[in-house]
Amino acid sequence: MEMKKDFIDTTDFSKEELLDIINLGILIKENLKKGFPLNVLYHKSLGMIFEQTSTRTRCSFETAMTQLGGHAQFLAPGQIQLGAHETLKDTAKVLSRLLDIIMARVNRHDSVCELAKNSSIPVINGMSDYNHPTQEMGDFTTIIEHMPPGKKLEDLKIVFVGDATQVCASLLMTTTKLGAHFVQFGPKGYQLQDKNPKYIEIAEANCKISGGSYLITDDEDEALKDADFVYTDVWYGLYDAELSEEERMRIFYPKYHVDMDMMKKAAPHVKFMHCLPASRGEEVSDEVIDSDLSIVIDEAENRLTSIRALLVYFMGKSEETKEICNKNLGR
Ligand code: CP
Repeated sequence: MEMKKDFIDTTDFSKEELLDIINLGILIKENLKKGFPLNVLYHKSLGMIFEQTSTRTRCSFETAMTQLGGHAQFLAPGQIQLGAHETLKDTAKVLSRLLDIIMARVNRHDSVCELAKNSSIPVINGMSDYNHPTQEMGDFTTIIEHMPPGKKLEDLKIVFVGDATQVCASLLMTTTKLGAHFVQFGPKGYQLQDKNPKYIEIAEANCKISGGSYLITDDEDEALKDADFVYTDVWYGLYDAELSEEERMRIFYPKYHVDMDMMKKAAPHVKFMHCLPASRGEEVSDEVIDSDLSIVIDEAENRLTSIRALLVYFMGKSEETKEICNKNLGR
């Protein structure tokens, strides 16, 4: 299969390709944790375009480039001529001559697609109003690391609680691609099909190939029963419809607030996940996010784990990196 130039959506990739990148990330993590340097991106430059704020995505990409021997340039909101005084097409063509790879967090999904279409270098989607694919690569790294005993990926029930954010959408699309079982427990009007029917079309197509499944429900008991992972995100809404605090609480609270009573309805080994940042007291209680059930800090660390792998993969250095890491680790 021909290698894709860009990482815009997990939907563009096969299950095997996604798992190959996730496993590459786990291998690089082990190599670095054991103290072996890895300079496979020596002298390579990453441009990080941010139309919005970020902690995890920005720090992960920048740290990853440093650890791999390269360099990252932070192109903050308002710092470059992105679609304002210069077209996206011209920006893409120019950056292709100045950089080796681009990451873009954009307000509109069309922007990252336009950048990718007009760039001769790889473009990685660092989140748009449609999806958050690098988040899912980190999430599935974390899920694999916290696999319940005796289970495999295809056995897992992953329950997203709350609003159909772009993280919820990417979790649906990636879970079904990988052959696992996805549930959104959310109120009518804030379910995935209400945001974009395309999400459901993609999930259905994925399930036919992978054997996975999806369910969208506002029935708590049905949603939580036997859940291996419970995941939530903020209730702000997508960019067009940011909700006020009063609206958020009226729509989602208390039914979709993840607390210990809700967690007790899941499997005994359940783990709690959140892409962060969290609005504590809204979508999740302090008691849950600070508990032993919570793997949110591992999840945040694995943004770096998977982003290192994405950078290596899209710079065409996967095989060389695997060889170096396996040799270092005595395999
Ligand atoms: N989860 C996530 O994307 O975090 P940041 O917005 O801090 O990058």
